[in-house]
Amino acid sequence: MKKRILTGDRPSGKLHLGHFVGSLANRVKLQDEYDQYILIADVQAMTDNFENPEKVANSVRELVLDYVAAGIDPSRSTIVVQSMVPPIAELTVFYMNLVTLNRVLRNPTVKDEIRQKGFGDRVPAGFAMYPVSQAADITAFAANLVPVGADQLPMIEQTREIVRRFNQLYGETLVEPEALVGEFPRLVGTDGGAKMSKSLDNCIYLSDSSEEVIRRVMGMYTDPNRVRATDPGKVEGNPVFIYHDAFNVNKEEVEDLKKRYREGKVGDIEVKQKLAVAINSFLAPMRTRRNNLESNPAEVNRILSEGTERGRKVAEETLRRVKTAMKISYQF
Ligand code: TRP
Repeated sequence: MKKRILTGDRPSGKLHLGHFVGSLANRVKLQDEYDQYILIADVQAMTDNFENPEKVANSVRELVLDYVAAGIDPSRSTIVVQSMVPPIAELTVFYMNLVTLNRVLRNPTVKDEIRQKGFGDRVPAGFAMYPVSQAADITAFAANLVPVGADQLPMIEQTREIVRRFNQLYGETLVEPEALVGEFPRLVGTDGGAKMSKSLDNCIYLSDSSEEVIRRVMGMYTDPNRVRATDPGKVEGNPVFIYHDAFNVNKEEVEDLKKRYREGKVGDIEVKQKLAVAINSFLAPMRTRRNNLESNPAEVNRILSEGTERGRKVAEETLRRVKTAMKISYQF
């Protein structure tokens, strides 16, 4: 039997090239080798969007379009909507007794996010508890592996602790997952900043039109020390060349551009024009898949309802086993 993997996203707007490089590309690759579940974590998204639930709700279908555009095949990957799987919420309640308040608040990812979001001393309890609900996500689907970026490692560690505690208290029941830390390169923003981030407006989205891509690429940062096209330029760490390496399949062209850039024999305009062409051909098959699905809303419904149904069955079975282990599986 194939090993099961679970990945998840909080729905909160469209996905960009950074998401693709960092996780979607990997999911597309993994969907053959593994039994892949992808969780649209709308309940988790609520923990920091509860004042704008419509933002979360509106992103659910958009996420499906992004997934399919990126190459995720719903017949091979099961796409599940978290809020429609009540057993996840029930497991969360049971698991909350298996962690201490201090332990959740010490979770480095939670700590960072609390700081970033500026909650101050008004941290919503639901937000602080989200690692517990993530443990419920992972165990509900009995995932063996969870592909993660470095920032999510503490979540897996916390899940493993909960699983061990559960199994020790109530008997071997839950699957202890392992993190699958792949090569998840983080893509710099168009401004050369550490990563693409919606709030910094330095993203190229999978759903951008070709005009939009051209506009964003032409506005990219390059070597800040290069004033004229005849100045020798620096290729390393230069966002336009990082993108050329990531998205331009014409390696000869990339090498030629790098060489001429170092020698001061090519202008930024040409480098960027060629980059825009490369990114647009990279996105072209995604646009086709997106357009096909977008014109067929019933198909989006089918993907969401069939995936969620399949996921719910698995989660219900886990909950049943959990209640049996806890000896609260009453027969009234
Ligand atoms: N916390 C993850 C993020 O913010 C999303 C997520 C929710 C998730 N549930 C998950 C990831 C389960 C992996 C497994 O990106």
